[in-house]
Amino acid sequence: MIKVRVPAKVNVQLGVGGLRGDGFHDLANVFFAVALGDEVTATPGEGVTLSCSGPDAAQVPLDDTNLAARAARLLAAHHGLADPGVHLHIAKAIPVAGGMAGGSADGAAALVACDALWGLGTPMDVLLDLAAELGSDVPFALLGGVALGRGRGEILEALPVTGTFHWVFAVADGGLSTPAVFRECDRLREEAGTGSSEADVPTPDAAPALLAALATGDPAALAAALTNDLQPAALSLRPALAATLAAGTEAGAIGALVSGSGPTCAFLAKDASAAEALAAALTASGTCRTAHATYGPVRGAAVH
Ligand code: C5P
Repeated sequence: MIKVRVPAKVNVQLGVGGLRGDGFHDLANVFFAVALGDEVTATPGEGVTLSCSGPDAAQVPLDDTNLAARAARLLAAHHGLADPGVHLHIAKAIPVAGGMAGGSADGAAALVACDALWGLGTPMDVLLDLAAELGSDVPFALLGGVALGRGRGEILEALPVTGTFHWVFAVADGGLSTPAVFRECDRLREEAGTGSSEADVPTPDAAPALLAALATGDPAALAAALTNDLQPAALSLRPALAATLAAGTEAGAIGALVSGSGPTCAFLAKDASAAEALAAALTASGTCRTAHATYGPVRGAAVH
């Protein structure tokens, strides 16, 4: 039996460029891995089968659309295994369709778990290529830490970071579809008259102030530098998130933003005890389903 822990992510910067011909957007995407994560257990089995536990388990598809199943089949095909056998159990803590790359995390964890179970010893660079085939956020879940993602988010460069940052995540009722949020971002850009194509939108780049805040381990500077170009779109589709962000700020968060495509909201706290108090205040505020205090950065998907 192989157990793999895998982190969720928050984007401390999500710069969204124009819509490309292939339907994706070029990004300057600073991923940050947090300890709130899933655990994927691989055991020998017949074919590729899945099970899931956790409060949101009912919302997780257990068929071949699940990124964990697709990852197992992709790794098997890469190595020419005709008849792969594995049962993958997902212990789910990452909010489903929450903007924290939970499905991508399970895909990355399945790659690592099956690689170990089947004794394949696949090199990391090959796993990263397979991960990029599965989805834009899967390579980062393998890498962990803090990284700049370019292209559609899959071209990664690890970034220097000092110390530990303390986060709170406010989980909403129900998810948001990532493609729908990108489409809404394009629609808002068209409505504002700026245009949404690659020709209209300048190529985004990582903000120097953000990189400096990470490198020096300064939570107040990081809080001031948090940006998410998808936030207006997530708020447009889910206006109630404005109240969640305001509640966190009123309860003492030093920074607040929508996580990725949402609807989870992310808050920076000045230290671990401030994060615990903030999570309790957000849970009591009635503006979210629940809130979790956590920290990062942490490493990517790994056997433990
Ligand atoms: O790569 P992934 O399957 O996670 O992407 C899901 C959807 O999100 C894409 O089909 C696209 O609509 C949108 N997307 C995008 N630009 C990106 C990443 C994702 O438009 N860089």
